[in-house]
Amino acid sequence: MYLSIFLTTACIIFYQYQLSKANLMPSGNVDHIDNEIPPPPLYIITPTYKRPEQVAEITRLGYTLKHIPNIFWLVIEDATLQTPQLTRQLKRIGIPFEHLTAPMPNKFKKNKVKPRGVSNRNRGLDWIRANATDGVFYFADDDNTYDLQIFHEMRYTKKVSMWPVGLVTKYGLSSPIVRKGKLDGFYDGWIGGRKYPVDMAGFAVNVQFFLSRPKAEMPYKPGYEEDGFLKSLAPLNNTEIELLASQCTEVLTWHTQTKKNQPASNLDLKKYNGTNLVKLRDMIV
Ligand SMILES: *[C@@H]1O[C@H](CO)[C@@H](O)[C@H](O)[C@H]1NC(C)=O
Ligand SMILES: *[C@@H]1O[C@H](CO)[C@@H](O)[C@H](O)[C@H]1NC(C)=O
Ligand SMILES: *[C@@H]1O[C@H](CO)[C@@H](O)[C@H](O)[C@H]1NC(C)=O
Repeated sequence: MYLSIFLTTACIIFYQYQLSKANLMPSGNVDHIDNEIPPPPLYIITPTYKRPEQVAEITRLGYTLKHIPNIFWLVIEDATLQTPQLTRQLKRIGIPFEHLTAPMPNKFKKNKVKPRGVSNRNRGLDWIRANATDGVFYFADDDNTYDLQIFHEMRYTKKVSMWPVGLVTKYGLSSPIVRKGKLDGFYDGWIGGRKYPVDMAGFAVNVQFFLSRPKAEMPYKPGYEEDGFLKSLAPLNNTEIELLASQCTEVLTWHTQTKKNQPASNLDLKKYNGTNLVKLRDMIV
């Protein structure tokens, strides 16, 4: 009699324990929310520029980032003035952000191949130098696709971490080559004499490590932005580069890109004044 009561009680307690554990630990490999200490901050640097797709792209990326705890989003426009439609959407998405501007210097504007996104990313780096003390940062362009898993892995980067990026060049991906568990070169459809032939979406950097490299910045050199930036982090031994995404055997980021849209034609106010289209026009870039 007593034994059976004891066993029943023990069973109930054990069951409830399992239940509470299941509630605290969501499925999938995410940051443990039962951990008292919040994970180190993750700074996302997103260069952007005014174009018909801009708000749509930022919306898609923003709602991906919304799943990630302790994140700060630096959205930096290549412009002298903020696009108001973008500011409005950033507020709507509701994650902590800073909307900055950093126009491309005039001397590069007449180049045939322009160094796009460099002034923005360097502005983001300036912000990090001035305001961040720990955590990790990552350059996340607005036209990519991101599996949440990569954010949870990159935020523990000690110096520099790398992983494969899909939909890059004729090889269909760009990735570190891992042989016997070690970084042994890079696989990318265009090597171009680069020391680090990697895609912008394929690496993250520790903030303290970056702060210990006061000269680190991105060069205005189309095709060599990643390489130049990573080289500016020297000294960095290849053995110190952390290989994420299960030793670079998974694709968790893609350089998706979006179809370019024509700029919208003007609304004929003679025909449509007094309709909803007047309000909609303000949302179209
Ligand atoms: C640092 O953050 C403050 C507060 O958000 C901001 O006003 C300042 O411009 C930032 N510094 C840089 C260099 O971006
Ligand atoms: C990188 O580190 C490894 C292991 O610590 C060492 O054997 C190697 O000489 C280093 N390479 C350079 C270029 O310093
Ligand atoms: C559109 O209608 C508003 C009032 O509804 C009027 O003030 C404005 O002048 C009109 N604009 C044009 C271009 O007809």
